[in-house]
Amino acid sequence: MTDIVLPFLKWAGGKRWLASNSEFKIPQISGRYIEPFLGSGSIFFSTQPKDAVLSDVNSELIDTYLSLRDEHEKVSRHLKLHARSHSKSHYYYVRDEMKPRSTAGRAARFLYLNRTCWNGLYRVNLKGKFNVPKGTKSNVIMETDDFEAVSRILQKARLLCCDFEAVIDQAQSGDFIYADPPYTVHHNMNGFIKYNEILFSWEDQKRLRFALARASERGVKFLLSNADHASVHELYSDVASIKIVNRASVISGDRDARGTTTELLVSN
Ligand SMILES: C[S@@+](CC[C@H](N)C(=O)[O-])C[C@H]1O[C@@H](n2cnc3c(N)ncnc32)[C@H](O)[C@@H]1O
Repeated sequence: MTDIVLPFLKWAGGKRWLASNSEFKIPQISGRYIEPFLGSGSIFFSTQPKDAVLSDVNSELIDTYLSLRDEHEKVSRHLKLHARSHSKSHYYYVRDEMKPRSTAGRAARFLYLNRTCWNGLYRVNLKGKFNVPKGTKSNVIMETDDFEAVSRILQKARLLCCDFEAVIDQAQSGDFIYADPPYTVHHNMNGFIKYNEILFSWEDQKRLRFALARASERGVKFLLSNADHASVHELYSDVASIKIVNRASVISGDRDARGTTTELLVSN
């Protein structure tokens, strides 16, 4: 029996919706479960694999996972202090001035800002400083929080802070990779580059495609989420099979006006 554990972060492009989608299936894994774009780890927490390698390029994110794995009680204590002090001025003090010395203090700062900033967004300025304004949510402690279970599940995982290619290149026959990069498409040359495309360029998408194709040749199974866009179809047409999945969406912020968008699941 596995615990039901929800991701403890709100994350842009998070895949909670996919974890409960009937179209989504992970194959039987004889080797390791590898997730090189970890974010909030929705698929990892819903799958709870026995042997996992989890990585992301965001070092604050990976340090938070490590701290929750190794000292979740200390993190909880720090987070409760933030909950008690939460206000507009506390938010901006924590965001702009607070530099906790302990790893648990830094993890709690990361969780506090994630839960109270605008839309759970993670964005840094050119100096690498988190610069998202305060949002409307004020729940610092969630009813669903179960850091003890999070810690227990993470005991089985190796956590790394690195670029996806390094992790994919060390995958071996029998391993399974779930890859969920930031969504970018080959853009239309109108000169307007979206924020996502600065973080993850079309060149990165091509690098990912070649890394997954190399892994596939070594006997690694993979599943990739990506944007349902002609350029992504074209990128994977000769190396993998492509399935379109429906996703319920909220249209222009209006919670009553629901529609459906489509995304891709690409697998070998
Ligand atoms: C769409 S999110 C993953 C969401 C995740 N599946 C979830 O359910 O929350 C993409 C992640 O890729 C990470 N990322 C961006 N560029 C990367 C790179 N070059 N190598 C590794 N991770 C990267 C971001 O920090 C972000 O956490």
